[in-house]
Amino acid sequence: MSQVFQHDALIIGSGAAGLALAIKLADHCNVAVLSKTTLDDGSTRWAQGGIAAVLDTDDSVESHVQDTLVAGNNLCDEEAVRFTVENGKDSINWLIQQGVPFTPNDEDNSDQPYHLTREGGHSHRRIIHAADATGLAVSSTLIEQAQQKDNITIYTHRMAVDLITRRKLDEPGHGCVGAYVLNCQTEHVDVFKARFVILATGGASKVYLYTSNPDGSSGDGIAMAWRAGCRVANMEFNQFHPTCLYHPQAKSFLITEALRGEGAHLLLPDGSRFMPRFDERAELAPRDVVARAIDHEMKRLGSDCVYLDISHKDPEFIIQHFPTVYERCKSYGIDITKDPIPVVPAAHYTCGGVMVDTKGRTDLPNLYAIGETSFTGLHGANRMASNSLLECLVYAEATAQDIMQKLSDTPEPPDAPAWDETQVTDSDEDVVISHNWDELRRFMWDYVGIVRTNKRLQRAKHRIDLLNNEIGEYYSNYKISGDLIELRNLSVVADLIIRSALMRKESRGLHFTLDYPQVSAEPRNTILTPDQW
Ligand code: FAD
Ligand code: SIN
Repeated sequence: MSQVFQHDALIIGSGAAGLALAIKLADHCNVAVLSKTTLDDGSTRWAQGGIAAVLDTDDSVESHVQDTLVAGNNLCDEEAVRFTVENGKDSINWLIQQGVPFTPNDEDNSDQPYHLTREGGHSHRRIIHAADATGLAVSSTLIEQAQQKDNITIYTHRMAVDLITRRKLDEPGHGCVGAYVLNCQTEHVDVFKARFVILATGGASKVYLYTSNPDGSSGDGIAMAWRAGCRVANMEFNQFHPTCLYHPQAKSFLITEALRGEGAHLLLPDGSRFMPRFDERAELAPRDVVARAIDHEMKRLGSDCVYLDISHKDPEFIIQHFPTVYERCKSYGIDITKDPIPVVPAAHYTCGGVMVDTKGRTDLPNLYAIGETSFTGLHGANRMASNSLLECLVYAEATAQDIMQKLSDTPEPPDAPAWDETQVTDSDEDVVISHNWDELRRFMWDYVGIVRTNKRLQRAKHRIDLLNNEIGEYYSNYKISGDLIELRNLSVVADLIIRSALMRKESRGLHFTLDYPQVSAEPRNTILTPDQW
């Protein structure tokens, strides 16, 4: 039987963004948190390098702001950058109060209590971390805290299908009042009513064949917001992380950029360094530059991978700072204290997303978006390393403040009809879903990857139009499943990426096209507006 649930705030997603917001709201209202499978199924749990913030006395807000603007290739929204960076230290202090065990500083002569590492684009050491498993430390601490709050109800194995809006209900006014949610265990679609709905659904890198992301990064929040009438921006800027482990048995394992921050070199198969030929910052250039250089060298030499080598550093230092990478590589027979690590770029981060202001508010009243699913303007054309978890935390706080202010004036949500399954039957051919998943992710990798051309993008557009029709028809005729919901969302997101890429007639940051290799004089965001707007 389908059920109806009602909460003050419905938070869709249990990563850093969703859980931080839930904990902050819990003393003020009644909160529901949804996750697709387990509570730690998002990207947060896999974050390695750390969180960027101005914590050292030698560092400054201005320096972090400038580094972010440079890495973003002159496309960041400076107001969003300043807002995020200025609130960085408070966000880290909040995490420390929650109990996140950041790695202490081992230098006796420093008054900085935590070890700070470096990553690409940062001109200072400003990445606070928990060895090379920062995400695990953040995720498990926030889960533990959220589980202790009486006002937070956690619903795992639930997949939001679509948002419920006043317009869809023919109710007066405008705004979001809940969501239809598939209970993946009972297979029923329930109604979740809420005064505030927050998308904290993570990114969309699963749209590419090779990715560092976990399986659930299918852009559900972006697709749901788009269908509900919200604008999305800069979807062409999908970040490729330069260094994912290249090994037949290693699925999506990232080799943290902090290795390069601590001195690792990128090498060609003949053992020579190549990054100094591409950029004076060499291995510590921003990610778009490094990933493109690797792609160029792999294509030039016809090689399957390049190598990342930190073996010139003290083995004890390597094992102490990078225990996760050390152990994982060792399990594949690679000893990183002695051997170079085979690496390739892979889709890593969605810089674009649902457009929000500095309070996380979308175009739809009472609908917010925070974390990787949102577009705040912080990242411009290329996100700087470790600015993502920071954005999750800063915008969770801003959104919490906005919701708390509005609590007393926001009415209870109206009733919504139960999910209608009278017109659909059980799927007869699930192979359609798995085939379309594979096809979509492969052509996105081949045609909408690190280097693009008009012709490749048009090929991709033609294919996504066909797939969208097929998936739409399938969705209307058959009962929904988790795989079908994700495929439908991936196809929306792929279409948004391709359309945005076709609109950008220049090469900037993560969008590089052979047809327009120059940077245009006037930086602009690519904003897509849904038909019903
Ligand atoms: P996520 O943590 O991805 O969580 C998304 C949540 O939404 C999940 O709980 C999921 O179940 C839920 N969800 C999604 N769709 C639905 C739906 N339809 N219904 C219900 N629930 C749904 N960033 C840094 O700043 N520093 C790093 O060191 C770093 N390292 C990284 C390493 C790796 C391997 C990866 C993949 C990313 C890394 N990033 C890093 C990026 C960063 O981890 C992510 O951007 C960030 O964790 C996103 O957090 P989030 O809360 O927005 O979403
Ligand atoms: C990494 O550790 O290399 C990932 C950092 C990030 O994505 O910000």
